[in-house]
Amino acid sequence: MRISVIGCGYLGSVHAAAMAWLGHEVVGVDIDPAKVELLAAGRAPFYEPGLDDLLGRGLADGRLSFTTEIGRVHDAAVHFVCVGTPQAPGSLAADLSALDLAAQALIPHLRPGALVVGKSTVPVGTARPLAAGLADVGAHLIWNPEFLREGHSVHDTLAPDRIVYGLGRPWPGSLYDGTDVDGIGGWGGEAAADVLDQVYADLLAAGSPRLKMSYESAELVKASANSYLALRVSFINAISDLADAAGADVFDVAAALRLDQRIGRLFLEPGLGFGGGCLPKDLHSLIAQAEQLDAPLTKSLLSAADQINVARRARVVELTQRALDGPVAGSRVAVLGLAFKPHSSDVRNSQSILVAEALAAAGAEVAATDPAALPSARAAHPALNYAETVADAVRGADVVLVATEWPEYRELDPAQVASWTDARQVVDARGVLDRAAWTAAGWTVLTPGRPA
Ligand code: UDX
Repeated sequence: MRISVIGCGYLGSVHAAAMAWLGHEVVGVDIDPAKVELLAAGRAPFYEPGLDDLLGRGLADGRLSFTTEIGRVHDAAVHFVCVGTPQAPGSLAADLSALDLAAQALIPHLRPGALVVGKSTVPVGTARPLAAGLADVGAHLIWNPEFLREGHSVHDTLAPDRIVYGLGRPWPGSLYDGTDVDGIGGWGGEAAADVLDQVYADLLAAGSPRLKMSYESAELVKASANSYLALRVSFINAISDLADAAGADVFDVAAALRLDQRIGRLFLEPGLGFGGGCLPKDLHSLIAQAEQLDAPLTKSLLSAADQINVARRARVVELTQRALDGPVAGSRVAVLGLAFKPHSSDVRNSQSILVAEALAAAGAEVAATDPAALPSARAAHPALNYAETVADAVRGADVVLVATEWPEYRELDPAQVASWTDARQVVDARGVLDRAAWTAAGWTVLTPGRPA
């Protein structure tokens, strides 16, 4: 099928490459010429395992191309909208201006009967008015949220846990009369869903479940999924605070919780809390929606998760201060890890960076390092002081802080680290170090939620 992908960021570039891999003819459109140039050369504009390979194959087969010219989409039958919806400055709500611009740019180029598929994460109530505007030009809308994890985007696109179709129903006042244009329309969008089934035929055949629901439900699925993950992380971090107060070990508690099938294994890692380009902004957006939809209890539940997450940073700063046994001002702190999670170069809303900045603001001399995120950290946070290697970061340090749980930091040899510095205090913000080995090598390990 002929497909266009509007917006080639984290989501769109992977989606375009994956759709070409499925055998479709795909044109990816982005307003950023530098990004388009990289993608057209087969290079991902960010670190994502497997994406370069997928881009290379699609470009070599001639099935994949990238452009800044929106007019190139005119012969596509299906258009995926993958633009960003970041948090609006000075507000918790999402900024939908890129989505509005993309829709305005796309509409003049739509064939009658074209299918537009919204993948961007949007507040509930966004799709329906957009569908009305599209129906006026004879096009159809399905809301089809994505659930990609950074670092696993290729897998999550080609083998999704579930595929959600948000479909329209008749809406009052629409000019669209329900005529089935080119055979893919009709009330309820069932025929449009058949078209999207063709696009995803291989994924459906491989067993990914597909759920059909209303636009509003599909929008809410995405917001709830990310907010629930955030709630789980904040829940275990709330228990971490209780463990600290009671002399219990939150890691023992979490290990026992995970064995309960009703609770499940994942997203119960205590520590420094969640960051990244999605969880914080989607939680904030749902808080704003709860306020707007007059659901005060929902708002308090979600706000508490947010506040618990923010408080993790202060908790780790406090532990660092305790490790120093003196003021932070004038001390030297080595921060290991800047990415918001391991195997990523992304520093957006990274708790690790925020802690490093808080320590620097309190007067510490910080030397921060990361195996993959140094270039992005330097670009986004030029005022922080960086070191290329762990050895450089810890040299002269008074305390070592492990902020992002990269495997290379878990596997550090404590005796070797001790040979680079006189410090013997390590704050293990994510609880990933081998405590027995570090203690045996003369270190004191401080971890949130674990007795010293
Ligand atoms: C997330 C969702 O998982 C994905 O479905 C959605 O499409 C986009 O947002 P991602 O941003 O890649 O994906 O990060 P994720 O792997 O979910 O981790 C989010 C944050 O939570 C990280 O900072 C991670 O360190 C933290 N986290 C995760 C914890 O602190 N504890 C946990 O138990 C799990």
